[in-house]
Amino acid sequence: MSRKNLNIGLFGFGCVGYGLYEVLQKTPGLKANIKRICIKDKNKQRQIPSEHFTFDKDEILFDEEINTVVELIDDADAAFEIVKAALQNGKAVVTANKKMIAEHFAELLQLQRQHNVPLLYEAACCASIPIIRNLEEYYDNDLLESIEGIVNGSTNYILTKTAEENISYEEALKDAQQKGYAETNPVLDTGGFDAKYKLLILIAHAFGVITKPEEIYNLGIDKLGELELNYAREKGLKIKLVAYSEKTENGKINAFVLPKFVHKNDKLFSVDDVFNGIKTKSYFSDTQFFSGKGAGAYPTASAVVSDISALSYDYRYEYKKLNQIETLASDATIILKVFLRHDLEYGHEFKRYFEEINECYLNYESGFIVGTISLKHLKEIAGRKNAATSIVLFEIVKRDGIPTAIGETVKRKHLGRLSNLVSN
Ligand code: HSE
Repeated sequence: MSRKNLNIGLFGFGCVGYGLYEVLQKTPGLKANIKRICIKDKNKQRQIPSEHFTFDKDEILFDEEINTVVELIDDADAAFEIVKAALQNGKAVVTANKKMIAEHFAELLQLQRQHNVPLLYEAACCASIPIIRNLEEYYDNDLLESIEGIVNGSTNYILTKTAEENISYEEALKDAQQKGYAETNPVLDTGGFDAKYKLLILIAHAFGVITKPEEIYNLGIDKLGELELNYAREKGLKIKLVAYSEKTENGKINAFVLPKFVHKNDKLFSVDDVFNGIKTKSYFSDTQFFSGKGAGAYPTASAVVSDISALSYDYRYEYKKLNQIETLASDATIILKVFLRHDLEYGHEFKRYFEEINECYLNYESGFIVGTISLKHLKEIAGRKNAATSIVLFEIVKRDGIPTAIGETVKRKHLGRLSNLVSN
């Protein structure tokens, strides 16, 4: 198959932009040339000569020789305007901006269709792990049952350092920022928003559901405290920030981002530092596991290069599952076993929200409850101001409001469908 020559207009020359420039120098087999780089800051010292740069985005967007735009800027709103204009002008686009994609997913799909140009974004989810391409190609059938993982490198780095090396939260966050892992606004990482944007993208490719960020619940690691960290230590567990999605028997999607206690038998247990890990489960192949660096200049740039290379073969996402009818499940039908820490005076009140209580503890200022509760009630408690709550998930105990082992029930349904196919 012959490869197309790509003439690239690059937006952004920060950590990942420079990483991409370097990685491209080392991959001469790829016929991709960066013609022009658009940057914002006129005073910042750059590592390459100034003739490569422009401050005018139209010099890229309206350059007919440029057939590919690579967008690596920080500002999601400005990124959307650039990507939109590039697609409208018939240019293929590669982006790593998960916030921008998550906030405009439906519109970006429409723009791709309308202008018949591809938009690729492997670097937006888990940096070096080729998860989107796998969901698009390998899992292009409806047998995928769930996808769960650690999808944010900064928070995993912080959790690893604070739990295992006794480094303070603030120091670990600063370190993650210095290493180029964290978002400019680190609350996007620590509050679980970045993980949610990535989950939203994964759900679109895994299950064909397009949703909006505000429809997926996220809690981050920024409220974790000593009680739950000690609880984890005493029981030989680790706390990880986990993004979770699964298809239920009723064809609905359960999805959320929560801190979770992870047991040592779980593959995610040994995913530490800046690494990400994704577990997929499908009806016949059971579980599979992907792991790789989830943030940083080179891991992200390598995913961008892979997308550029794919464009040279005219690759595009096909979104094969989009016309299936799954939607998000109601929060009231998902029942979770959780650890809830609360201020002393809220103990009685919060207990009333639980379906079942397995364990309680109080000291002179706070306490915790371990028990089962619906996602709906959990959100109400977590939304309460001044209650000093922190929540860590153990597991999902009911789906569609029913205590079922999802693998078994849904498998039966699919086996039924497959045998129909065979007998037809
Ligand atoms: N801030 C993100 C993270 C960068 O820490 O995972 C990679 O998407």
